[in-house]
Formats: sequence, C-alpha cells, structure tokens
Amino acid sequence: MTRPWCHLLLLTIPVTLVVTTQLAANGVKKVLSSFEPINTSDASVKQCAWFAVREYNKRSDDKNVFLVASILQAKLQITSHLEYLIHVQLVRSNCPKSLSNNENCVLLKPFNLEKKMNCRFLVGAFPWKGEFTLLEKQCEDV
Ligand SMILES: *[C@@H]1O[C@H](CO)[C@@H](O)[C@H](O)[C@H]1NC(C)=O
Repeated sequence: MTRPWCHLLLLTIPVTLVVTTQLAANGVKKVLSSFEPINTSDASVKQCAWFAVREYNKRSDDKNVFLVASILQAKLQITSHLEYLIHVQLVRSNCPKSLSNNENCVLLKPFNLEKKMNCRFLVGAFPWKGEFTLLEKQCEDV
C-alpha cells in the first residue's frame, strides 16, 4: 500500500521545481554583491536620487515640489540589476507642482515655510539604459 505515495512524490517534485523557478524569476534575488557603501558623488547615485524625488513629488500631497538638499549616504547592491539604497534630505521648494520646470526652484530658507524630510529610497536601476524603478520609500519629517 505504499504505491500511492510514490505517485504523490512524483507529482510533488515537478510542482516544487516550477514554483522555485518562478520565484527565482520574479522575486527571490540572486545577490552577487550585497550592500556596500559607495561615494555619494557617484553620477548614478545622483541620477537615482533625482529619479526617486521625482517619484516622491508625483505621489505627495504637497502643493510644492521637494528638492534634494543633500545625499547623506548611498549603498549599492548588485543582483540581476543594480539596487541603490539612498538616504537623502529633501527640502520643500518655492515651486508649485504645476510648474513642470524645476530649474528655477529654490529651497525655502524662510523658516516658516521650510519643511525638511529625511528619506530612504531603494531604487532598482539599469543606469546604462537610463532605467530606474522606485522599489521602496520611507520618509520622515526632520
Ligand atoms: C567621492 O568622489 C568625489 C568626486 O569624485 C571625491 O572628491 C571624494 O573624495 C570622494 N569621496 C570619498 C569618500 O571617496
């Protein structure tokens, strides 16, 4: 009466393989090199910070756009793509979101309007293709 178990096992193994393959394809990451600090002046770090803040502004309820005041820390992890973990300080600018061009925005120094945030962004990137994805965002008022 052990036979049914054999069949069960044979059935179970292929299913497990399929699940594992799918997880590898969409989620469980192969980490080639885990998070290491990198220079915050790195061009890719700046690109990621710029991208993350643009996404932040799209999703925020504030009338004004926030700008990067400084990049505090950056780390890089290498998987099938690059993952940048970036700590930035954002400051509310004088520019309403309705103006698409941020060139002339200045950080608000008058303290009644100033608002600062410290944010941690995880950005997935293929910098050489100009592709960025905001994977995680965590901000708090300073
Ligand atoms: C980061 O890069 C800048 C510009 O290339 C350089 O001046 C600076 O010394 C570097 N900082 C560190 C900690 O390596």
